[in-house]
Amino acid sequence: MDRQLTKDLKPGHLFVFGLGYSTTRLSKRLMALGWRVSGTNRSEQKVIEARSIGISSMIFDQGTPLKEPEKVFSDVTHIIASIPPSEIGEIALLLHSDELRDAASLTWVNYLSTPAVYGDRSGGVASEFDEPTPISKRGERRLAAERAWIDTFSDTRVSVQIMRIAGIYGPGRSVIEQVAAGRARIIEKEGQVFNRIHVDDIGTSLIASMLRPNDKRIYNLADGNPCASGDVTRYACKLLQVEPPTPIKFEDAQLSDMARSFYSECKILETSRLRNELLVNLRYPSYKEGLRQILQDIN
Ligand SMILES: NC(=O)c1ccc[n+]([C@@H]2O[C@H](COP(=O)([O-])OP(=O)(O)OC[C@H]3O[C@@H](n4cnc5c(N)ncnc54)[C@H](OP(=O)(O)O)[C@@H]3O)[C@@H](O)[C@H]2O)c1
Repeated sequence: MDRQLTKDLKPGHLFVFGLGYSTTRLSKRLMALGWRVSGTNRSEQKVIEARSIGISSMIFDQGTPLKEPEKVFSDVTHIIASIPPSEIGEIALLLHSDELRDAASLTWVNYLSTPAVYGDRSGGVASEFDEPTPISKRGERRLAAERAWIDTFSDTRVSVQIMRIAGIYGPGRSVIEQVAAGRARIIEKEGQVFNRIHVDDIGTSLIASMLRPNDKRIYNLADGNPCASGDVTRYACKLLQVEPPTPIKFEDAQLSDMARSFYSECKILETSRLRNELLVNLRYPSYKEGLRQILQDIN
């Protein structure tokens, strides 16, 4: 399927700031198609893991700039930025924007952002045409990071795309594993719905963007099935044939600051641009297909 999808895409050299869950899965797909992948992690352990699958990873964080960055970027054709912004800003750009702008082979950059930039829409639709109105620090930082990536390359021939990604799930990171481990919770908040997206549909969308670069274009990446998180947990319980956990009212739930901030916003993501411009046909149009596949792969 990837060979068909990428038949018009010449293998290049992808550099990833933040070789995490989504970008490592995409990297494996690209390497199978002849791409080189390099990038960054924060710990020696993660660097070793990445190298064991053929990715040339190096340590990078706020206090550890890349060594010899000109050399690192010398033949890089594509960059994905997947590190969440820190309180001081977008560290990849704070530390390396000059070398990135000088990278002669670079043609395409993609910044992985979040719908937090839209702020709260009280359950209404958020589309890429809308003016972003973040209400959280997280959302403000993301918006600043999006703009920083666009500004850095604004007078160059590099095409910069932004992906605003819904809740990411996939193998090893889904409610199937949570239910199986007895860790699943159902938090109930009246009217609270959100979109998700399967990790491999993120990879497909990024490949589609490499095939159809569109400078400064923003895309929502989401499935077509916004719903309450309890619906997803109940469905996973049904698949695993176990009783769902007792629901907890939002007001009574013990939540991290991040989770509480997430629940303070409610919106549905419009995705026609993903379908009509990037021509992406999601393999997992809802959590149901995604969770069934995850369970099938475990079994
Ligand atoms: N999870 C979601 O539902 C969701 C939804 C929308 C958008 N996003 C955003 O989309 C991107 C991809 O998501 P993901 O879940 O695939 O990412 P992930 O697995 O959390 O990976 C993030 C990567 O960034 C690196 N990183 C994190 N903080 C860093 C720091 N302060 N300095 C240097 N490196 C740092 C991590 O390094 P290590 O590998 O060393 O840990 C990791 O490689 C992320 O920016 C994420 O925040 C996530």
